[in-house]
Amino acid sequence: MQKEIDVGVRGEEGKAVAVLRSETSSPGKAAQSLLKAVARFRPFTEQEQSSPTTPSFPAPLYDFSSPTQIAISGQSSTLTFSLSRVFPPSAVQSLVYEEVAQPLVSDVLDGFNATIFAYGQTGSGKTFTMLGPDPYDEELRGIMPRAAVQVFQTIESAEEQMEYTIQCSAVEIYKEKLQDLLDTSGTGLKIKESTEKGIYVEGLSSLV
Ligand SMILES: Nc1ncnc2c1ncn2[C@@H]1O[C@H](COP(=O)(O)OP(=O)(O)OP(=O)(O)O)[C@@H](O)[C@H]1O
Ligand SMILES: [Mg+2]
Repeated sequence: MQKEIDVGVRGEEGKAVAVLRSETSSPGKAAQSLLKAVARFRPFTEQEQSSPTTPSFPAPLYDFSSPTQIAISGQSSTLTFSLSRVFPPSAVQSLVYEEVAQPLVSDVLDGFNATIFAYGQTGSGKTFTMLGPDPYDEELRGIMPRAAVQVFQTIESAEEQMEYTIQCSAVEIYKEKLQDLLDTSGTGLKIKESTEKGIYVEGLSSLV
């Protein structure tokens, strides 16, 4: 038996961090939920805490008491948003991984497609969530290094007759331009769609 695993790394731009999940039309457990939106609120950085431009009062109040709702109270009204999951500033990397990424990586290893997409304004914590400050720091590493560990641990513990092929590409989308991060000569790449391959980046290099 042979399994092919595509590990894609996507670029990042935008506002509050959201991690989304989607799969193609596969039956089974992975198809139970086609799209999930998760919000993670990061703590103030040391610089923000000491900065005179950080509003101290009247700052909006964030109510994190529900795991699936965030209520933000301003001076005159409260806005409540419902999501698949809301992670408060106290949420550590392992919790975010276990609740968001681990089930998806398991699905990928079972042959489903999955995407984790971080969206948020500059400084909102996308790189911290996806990569973390140090991939070798077991506590602080983010989703991508943890996913690599899960993939290789699963392969190591799989039955001997299983053969896996892991293919990895890295592409950055910045200001609507695609850059191949494994081959910096590959600029101006284009997203294409075909019936056989689905959506793909033409000319994108990959490591097997
Ligand atoms: N959950 C968190 N806990 C502690 N610190 C965090 C957390 N999330 C982000 N930070 C810190 O906040 C700062 C900004 O985060 P980060 O660099 O991940 O933002 P970004 O969304 O990737 O920004 P950019 O769009 O500019 O690349 C960094 O100093 C990072 O270490
Ligand atoms: Mg970043």
